[in-house]
Amino acid sequence: MLLAGRVGLISGAGSGLGRSTALLFAQEGAAVVVADIAEDRGLETVSMIRENGNRAVAVSGDVSRERDTQQMVAMAITTFGRLDILANYAGISHDVPLTEINDEAFYRVMDTNLKGVLFLAKHAIPKMVASGGGSIINIGSAVALRARQNMPLYVASKGAVVAVTRSMALDYAADNIRVNCICPTATETPMIRARYASMRDGEKVFQDNLATIPMGRLGRPEDIANVALFLACDLSAYVTGHTLIVDGGSLAGTKAL
Ligand SMILES: NC(=O)c1ccc[n+]([C@@H]2O[C@H](COP(=O)([O-])OP(=O)(O)OC[C@H]3O[C@@H](n4cnc5c(N)ncnc54)[C@H](O)[C@@H]3O)[C@@H](O)[C@H]2O)c1
Repeated sequence: MLLAGRVGLISGAGSGLGRSTALLFAQEGAAVVVADIAEDRGLETVSMIRENGNRAVAVSGDVSRERDTQQMVAMAITTFGRLDILANYAGISHDVPLTEINDEAFYRVMDTNLKGVLFLAKHAIPKMVASGGGSIINIGSAVALRARQNMPLYVASKGAVVAVTRSMALDYAADNIRVNCICPTATETPMIRARYASMRDGEKVFQDNLATIPMGRLGRPEDIANVALFLACDLSAYVTGHTLIVDGGSLAGTKAL
């Protein structure tokens, strides 16, 4: 098992990519702290992990509030005694053109997608130092590297996550803390289904997007979880400050026009 004896805190683990990663980490021997704003979904993930005979605990909270991020980290220490892995999945999408954004949306998106990453790391790092090191995995997005139309706030928040991954990697490499980022493209989760469903011509947009993926399918949550496992475990011991694109080849180039 690749994560035997490790303790991982996963934000947004009540759904989608975070849940899939939580299940895989637990299967690989980690004790998992499932952190999510939706308490019922977090508890559901914990039940799934425990049904498989593995260890997990839920903590409900909002990553955009510093006190909640502190409590998430504290839960790892009080329940399992250490913290080795932080995976920052909690995030929200926002499909609104620049001319229609407002103050409230700006802070909601930035506070969830960026502030949450920063403050969870702020509180996790001292605990990781005490555990002899660790791995932080941030979830950016392919749109941080090649923008998609009409989602400037989301693009900005994920671009910042990519940038701060390098900054954090630099600052804590000497403490044996690695910090990497995964940039997925459209992956089959409730978030992506809700996104297309909210559009007037959602089915057409979906088909158009599908046509841009050389591998001809959306990502699956396990595609992301497997990469997160690699970044969490010792197989990636010399990898830090890296952004790993998981997109079925979408950013490799465009098809002939
Ligand atoms: N699904 C995709 O296609 C895709 C593509 C690129 C990047 N991403 C990123 O991957 C991450 C996970 O996405 P997903 O598709 O699994 O989404 P999802 O909506 O299925 O899951 C996100 C989880 O985060 C939780 N959450 C939201 N706001 C929170 C907050 N303030 N505090 C704590 N928890 C909160 C939600 O309750 C939910 O359980 C997000 O950061 C998203 O931006 C997703």
